[in-house]
Amino acid sequence: MKMMRMTDGYIVRVRKLLGHCFAHPWTLTTIKNTIDREDVYSLIFVEGDEVAAFLAFEKILDEGSVELIAVDEKYRRRGLAKFMLEYIMNTIGDLSVVTLEVRASNTPAISLYQSLGFEQIAVRKNYYADISEDALVMQKHLEKKAPNKDSFLWRGLYGKE
Ligand SMILES: CC(C)(COP(=O)(O)OP(=O)(O)OC[C@H]1O[C@@H](n2cnc3c(N)ncnc32)[C@H](O)[C@@H]1OP(=O)(O)O)[C@@H](O)C(=O)NCCC(=O)NCCS
Repeated sequence: MKMMRMTDGYIVRVRKLLGHCFAHPWTLTTIKNTIDREDVYSLIFVEGDEVAAFLAFEKILDEGSVELIAVDEKYRRRGLAKFMLEYIMNTIGDLSVVTLEVRASNTPAISLYQSLGFEQIAVRKNYYADISEDALVMQKHLEKKAPNKDSFLWRGLYGKE
């Protein structure tokens, strides 16, 4: 199993993973448009020919946001999600706060974020229109540090300085 930067060649396999994880998964176009965004950093864990996990993380100025995280059911509870989030927060650098929204019923994800030190700061009523479910807004403050430019994230591929 290896972690790498998400690239176009994995879009179909990420879509397959998301199809297993969400009732309304991102489309191929949404995945492509998201990973192409200059302010989004995306990672995958690959096992053989399969994508086991995916993370899309947005950074605007010094504020980060978890756009989407998913781990294939058969690879869960092995620390993949936690590793990806810790890796991205430690590597991008220059972050002072990370915010995310999570469905109020999504206990695995809420536990994951709590295990990383995120705290609930607000509730958005009926944020998810599909089943009128509330979103919890969770946040974590970080000490700003320099980006780790030795990471594979940077190797001239993102063009993000
Ligand atoms: C939420 C999700 C990404 C977690 O991925 P994961 O790789 O299994 O999580 P990790 O193994 O890194 O878990 C780290 C910690 O989070 C907590 N946690 C994760 N899943 C949990 C669960 N099902 N129940 C309770 N705690 C859980 C635990 O504290 C865990 O540490 P531990 O295993 O040492 O107890 C995964 O369940 C998933 O893909 N769910 C469907 C998609 C989704 O809901 N994404 C989030 C919203 S965008």
